Amino acid sequence: MEYFIIKSLHITFAGIWLANLLTDSVLRGIITTNKQKSGERKFIRLYMTFINLLGIIGSVGILATGIFLVLDSQYGFFDMSANHWLAAKQILMVVLLLTIFLFIIPTAKKIKTELGENLESDTILSENTYLLLQKLYRLSTIVNAIVLINFLFAVTHYLFG
Ligand code: HEM
Repeated sequence: MEYFIIKSLHITFAGIWLANLLTDSVLRGIITTNKQKSGERKFIRLYMTFINLLGIIGSVGILATGIFLVLDSQYGFFDMSANHWLAAKQILMVVLLLTIFLFIIPTAKKIKTELGENLESDTILSENTYLLLQKLYRLSTIVNAIVLINFLFAVTHYLFG
């Protein structure tokens, strides 16, 4: 019983992380529409709050439940002798965590510094802020793509035996 509750949680966390695909594109559109208009800083902060929140809930939830599922079953860690779909997911999960900790978090911190504390300020943002934002968009796209690939690996593994 416990196993299936954890598996359901695992799938739920995957869904939460995949929700980033939707919120990401919607919020990017709003930021572009409000470029150099009042409220721009708030929308950029809202974007970073969303990818941060959904990213933390998704990654921590998936990792904790994934490790439990492996420990409570016949599956293994990075075992390329069988269940290649799972080993591939685990390797991509390592890539995801490295991308988040080595690239996304430092870039988001730099953008926060550029935005400053006063989100009501009408001072035009520097060119460097827009370059950092483009970098954050690229990194977030990579993370969303890998989460989607892992999801497809998981739900199609029955097809490939
Ligand atoms: C972005 C990362 C991941 C996503 C999106 C994801 C998604 C999923 C989904 C949707 C399933 C259900 C497939 C099904 O049976 O229909 C699943 C199953 C599973 N996942 Fe993940 N997963 C991820 C990472 C991981 C990691 C890192 C581990 C292990 C450390 C893991 C271990 C498992 C196991 C063992 C199952 C099989 C459960 C079973 O069929 O009994 N997953 N995953």
